[in-house]
Amino acid sequence: MKHSKPFYKYVKGRVVSGLGEGSRYVSLYSELFEKYLGFKPYPGTLNIVVENTTVSMDSIVNKIVIPPPGNGYVSVYAYRAYIYGVEVVYVVKPMITKHGREIDEVVSRYNLRERYCLRDGSIVELLIMV
Ligand code: CDP
Repeated sequence: MKHSKPFYKYVKGRVVSGLGEGSRYVSLYSELFEKYLGFKPYPGTLNIVVENTTVSMDSIVNKIVIPPPGNGYVSVYAYRAYIYGVEVVYVVKPMITKHGREIDEVVSRYNLRERYCLRDGSIVELLIMV
């Protein structure tokens, strides 16, 4: 029997607090996120330390490139994921970032800590469309 490649990857991680810059950064890109992702993002990013595997940007076919909001800003890659398998979020990766590769930054139209009762250390599961 022929096995086809899976079209999603399972990522498991834990919530951490970020550098306190997420809300400023998402606000700057807010109109572009709305245009390219289709929703107005909650101003901030939910940061997740990935525990099982990092997904390489090269392996993701359906990534979106969001252009910079102005001179001196960088483009951002975004790829679609389903948090707990049910709700669309996007993992965003600025082309230049202070975060290590093991941190995923998630944007959503909702405050995910409130919506899923998350705190630092809570487990988050993402299905990433690749
Ligand atoms: O300080 P930090 O960089 O972690 O946070 P932020 O990006 O400024 O976001 C403010 C707070 O909202 C943090 O506690 C995030 O984890 C949280 N957040 C969330 O729960 N859901 C989102 N969609 C975005 C941020």
